Amino acid sequence: MAGRNQTAVTEFLLQGLPIESEQKNLFYALFLVMYVTTVLGNLLIIFLIRLDSQLHTPMYLFLSNLSFSDLCFSSVTMPKLLHNMQSQVPSIPYAGCLTQMYFFLFFGDLESFLLVAMAYDRYVAICFPLHYTTIMSPKLCLSLVALSWGLIRLHAMLHTLLMARLCFCADNVIPHFFCDMSALLKLSCSDTQVNELVIFIMGGLIVVIPFLLIITSYARIVSSILKVPSARGIRKAFSTCSSHLAVVSLFYGTVIVLYLCPSADNSTVKDMVMAMMYTVVTPMLNPFIYSLRNRDMKGALGRVFCRKKTPFSV
Ligand SMILES: *[C@@H]1O[C@H](CO)[C@@H](O)[C@H](O)[C@H]1NC(C)=O
Repeated sequence: MAGRNQTAVTEFLLQGLPIESEQKNLFYALFLVMYVTTVLGNLLIIFLIRLDSQLHTPMYLFLSNLSFSDLCFSSVTMPKLLHNMQSQVPSIPYAGCLTQMYFFLFFGDLESFLLVAMAYDRYVAICFPLHYTTIMSPKLCLSLVALSWGLIRLHAMLHTLLMARLCFCADNVIPHFFCDMSALLKLSCSDTQVNELVIFIMGGLIVVIPFLLIITSYARIVSSILKVPSARGIRKAFSTCSSHLAVVSLFYGTVIVLYLCPSADNSTVKDMVMAMMYTVVTPMLNPFIYSLRNRDMKGALGRVFCRKKTPFSV
């Protein structure tokens, strides 16, 4: 155990991104634009789906949840990053750091669970089109969302409590732009074996199981299309799945590159660039992937904004 007579760390310093000072303003503007785009894009999706009753289907309700999750996920790190880029002392209080870690895990997991729910929804829509409305009932959708919230709350709480047990001694500089769990573990002067074990096991479960479920859904979709191959069936499956597949690839692509590719000497820089990818770029792109490719969303945009003069009746 670390000595009891050491003063406990009450705040951390976030070292931030390795940006040279001449370029600071440029990057600040870039990140600000990206963050504002993320917030507006996702709010627009939530707003459209809420207002347009034709989009009150499981697929769009999950998408609306995904947008909410993207919005929150990016808001966990971006405002603090932007604030710290402008401040002299980029500090974060100890409790703030743990809170950030909790919500980072929470919304990151939520994203992955929602992608599974969406894959299952596409699987039912393509393989059992006639039973779609009975299988994907509002009750099932709500249960899937509630189950995800329950599980990820436990997961995020487990890691946060395990982190709260650790002691932090002299070194309080986090070489990252947010309170990243592995960066915090490296700083700690307690024994972190239990934490590492739990991260390894839970990380495996939380990443690998959803990934396998998604792969299984798509394998079933592909095999059901191949049984009765027709140009129309393929086109229909492709048009309903392509957006989801693009989002899944973006999300898991980053995770796989981050965790499975061997890291070089400058691994902190690589970690940070990849973290930028999934905290900023992915949440920003998701609304575009869904709205640009999607006729329903464009239709909703037209319907919602072109009948502005009459009050909404949903
Ligand atoms: C999330 O999904 C549930 C279940 O389909 C739905 O009732 C709820 O309105 C959605 N929440 C948001 C913010 O879209």
